[in-house]
Amino acid sequence: MAPMTRSRADNPEHTATPLIAEYYEQRASAGLIISEGTHVNPMAIGSADIPDIYTQNQIEGWKLVTDAVHQRDGKIFAQLWHEGRISHPDLLQGKLPLAPSAINPEFKAFSKKGFVDTVTPKEMSLEEIRSTIHDFGKAASNAFEAGFDGVELHAANGYLFHQFFAKCSNIRTDEYGGSIEKRARFLFDVLDELSTLVDLKKVGVRLSPSMDKTFGITVDSETIPTFEYIVNKMNDYGLAYLHLSGFTLAEEADPMERILETAKHYRKIFKGPLIINKGFTKETANEAIDSGTADMVSFGELYIANPDLVERFEGDLPMNAGDRDTYYGTGPKGYTDYPFAN
Ligand SMILES: Cc1cc2nc3c(=O)[nH]c(=O)nc-3n(C[C@H](O)[C@H](O)[C@H](O)COP(=O)(O)O)c2cc1C
Repeated sequence: MAPMTRSRADNPEHTATPLIAEYYEQRASAGLIISEGTHVNPMAIGSADIPDIYTQNQIEGWKLVTDAVHQRDGKIFAQLWHEGRISHPDLLQGKLPLAPSAINPEFKAFSKKGFVDTVTPKEMSLEEIRSTIHDFGKAASNAFEAGFDGVELHAANGYLFHQFFAKCSNIRTDEYGGSIEKRARFLFDVLDELSTLVDLKKVGVRLSPSMDKTFGITVDSETIPTFEYIVNKMNDYGLAYLHLSGFTLAEEADPMERILETAKHYRKIFKGPLIINKGFTKETANEAIDSGTADMVSFGELYIANPDLVERFEGDLPMNAGDRDTYYGTGPKGYTDYPFAN
């Protein structure tokens, strides 16, 4: 099950609730659930009502979720998230969002008032970069304390890591900008930090190398060499997996074809398990695995409406259709009330 933000932590401390535990428990037959993005510190926030992972009460909230999934013999990783410039002062107690450089993504952030225009963020100081690296380490430790089986770094989809990687969002001239190596450095500093605290065999990384015209990211002449460098260097860390996201808001004829091409390219470079994602069905996913393009496929929207997706695949049963109006923030409606086939 692919990571999916559902914005149901509508409480002052943004803790996971019994309703959120019920949602994940319903989906526990997925071989591996990757949780919705969970923020690593208060400045990481860029969306309303996300169950976060930097306070003790939040750790306790997530224990409800991991216990519920484990009781049904499921496995669940926490997706660690910093949204960087895809945020708004309304979500940050009036502060400017943090980013590698002061460049407005000209996008939208999801606040309590609905979607609001992003602003020009504050360029992170070296001290702010260091403390953010530290907070990723603390959040990973918190995730294991909360009973997660592993963590996934959300380095995809135009958020903070991706903002460091891309030239359109990073014009720094210090050790975190300029060359490919320097733009990639933030990710490896975070992995180095995690290596001192948790077992890297339980750490995955999500990347979206082919993302273009989405979340303020545009492809440029160094995009491919940048991701080739990143994926190659990830081999030194003995990670759980690389998860390639094909998520896009751009008008694309066939995003699944595009992620298959992307996967074939990076498959040759990455030595560990590869998960791919975007628009797959049971048949196309089996083809991707049988042809050796990927080791695993993750499913997003199909899982919103079909808690028993595995059983439906097994029995070739019809799928429920998802209701996009209830993807974010509407309590149990469109969240825990989709019918099971049996
Ligand atoms: C409601 C919704 C929320 C999402 N939230 C996240 C998220 O928190 N983290 C992430 O990496 N991707 C997120 N995604 C992207 C999905 O993980 C996945 O890449 C996307 O849905 C495409 O896969 P699919 O075609 O199987 O749905 C989200 C997608 C949807 C539909």
